[in-house]
Amino acid sequence: MTNATIETNPLREGLSSARTADPCTIVIFGASGDLTERMLIPSLFALSEQRLVAPELSVLGISRRPFSDGEFRTKVKPESGNATNWDTFSRGVFYMSGDHHQEETYQRLKARLEEIDHNRGTQGNRLFYLAVAPDDFPTILGHLSQQGLLDPPSYADPEDNWVRVILEKPFGIDLASATKLNKDILRLVPESKIYRIDHYLGKETVQNILAFRFANTIFEPVWNRRYIDHIQITAAESLGVEERAGYYDHFGALKDMVQNHLLQLLALVAMEPPASALDDSVRDEKSKVFKALRIYKPEEVAENTVRAQYGPGFIDGKPVPGYLQEKNVSPESRTETYAAVRFFLDNWRWEGVPFYLRTGKRLARKVTEIAVVFKPAPLMLFGANEGDKLDPNVLVLRIGPEEGISIRFGTKIPGMTRRLRWVNMDFDYGTSFATPSPPAYARLLHDCMIGDPTLYNRGDAVELAWHVTQPILDAWAADTNPLPTYEAGREGPRQAETWMEDEGRYWRKL
Ligand code: BG6
Repeated sequence: MTNATIETNPLREGLSSARTADPCTIVIFGASGDLTERMLIPSLFALSEQRLVAPELSVLGISRRPFSDGEFRTKVKPESGNATNWDTFSRGVFYMSGDHHQEETYQRLKARLEEIDHNRGTQGNRLFYLAVAPDDFPTILGHLSQQGLLDPPSYADPEDNWVRVILEKPFGIDLASATKLNKDILRLVPESKIYRIDHYLGKETVQNILAFRFANTIFEPVWNRRYIDHIQITAAESLGVEERAGYYDHFGALKDMVQNHLLQLLALVAMEPPASALDDSVRDEKSKVFKALRIYKPEEVAENTVRAQYGPGFIDGKPVPGYLQEKNVSPESRTETYAAVRFFLDNWRWEGVPFYLRTGKRLARKVTEIAVVFKPAPLMLFGANEGDKLDPNVLVLRIGPEEGISIRFGTKIPGMTRRLRWVNMDFDYGTSFATPSPPAYARLLHDCMIGDPTLYNRGDAVELAWHVTQPILDAWAADTNPLPTYEAGREGPRQAETWMEDEGRYWRKL
């Protein structure tokens, strides 16, 4: 293939250069929630400063609270960015007060969208962002469908113009509700227009998992049960439940983090190479991983999981209350703030390799990482004493807040002895790249506007992830034993440590 053909190959263009998204209007349902001002508007504004969205881009926020366009613009104004650029961008930010259960809201919405298309040249392209409880997804989509808003308007070009829908997490609250939700929404909108968001998939370091595995030749040959002893996926936080206890107390760590973010990380680490990076191949491969995950019988749950709740303790030297003392938490709550699960994948590559997933609030520090722990060397040639055990090699994909990759290996300590010490070879995003990683939401919003769903969840994958989670939820709900606790600011419950030690393995220190 000549260079000329490579340059004009549209697939390669798609891979190498970021495209400016088509003009469109983004309608945010639930716009008064903090997601809009914390994530959505700052991300869209950052995209516009980088000219990755069209200058015509418009945003229409909807919720029940009464704001004028001006008040809404002030409320969502990001803290950083150029003031002149914000003035220009915010001219396309609008607000409409309305109850998303009422038909009348959608009649007004339709007229407002036509006005925006007319005044700002958004060409009838629409992105509906549903930042509301999952129960409300079918209601909103039903009304949009009734008003004909799920197809481009009559004055748009049916070939070029589009309507897409982003669904904020959580997608359902259990297996039954997620399955019903898929059924209800797919009756109204085809899968090709649905973008189920999981912000972990938009993180630069998460996208790099596939690049690391499949753009290099040196790791893949050892990426299997012959060389890997186990994999640890950790998402630890030092924050507590903050202002979100009302939500969290009904959810808990398993539904909040494991069912979605951590299982997504597992799928990316475990999947087979996709046939292509440009079609649905990546999502197909992820679904195959979810299908291979072992589903536990009720009696197998206790031995494969640990859950606990944080008690009082210290974070950064300051005393913090225990979970049961937090505002809006029931004093009898049995909601877990820590969850650890051992998963197995019943397939050729991973048979017998445990994947340990753990997450918790109020732990020693914020760290998200994937540690691939290799089998020890078969023979110890360099120990100080005969019978010394070799620690294993560990490859750590650091997802955040520190972003990078490190490989741990043994090195002879300089000098006259034959003793070894473990050292790390580190790659750090901050020192290797001049520009910081874009926020996850910016990447995901841009992908949706250019019509690339690769980093969004497909309906089948969400249901499959609920399939492996549900038996754990059921067994935990039936268990009346006292819930273990852990001191805030520490490594987690003692039970999780012994659970690992019993298998001759250790959690990495947070
Ligand atoms: C959210 C959870 O999905 O992810 C939160 O609801 C959690 O409880 C957050 O704190 C963690 O995300 P990140 O990107 O900070 O690791």
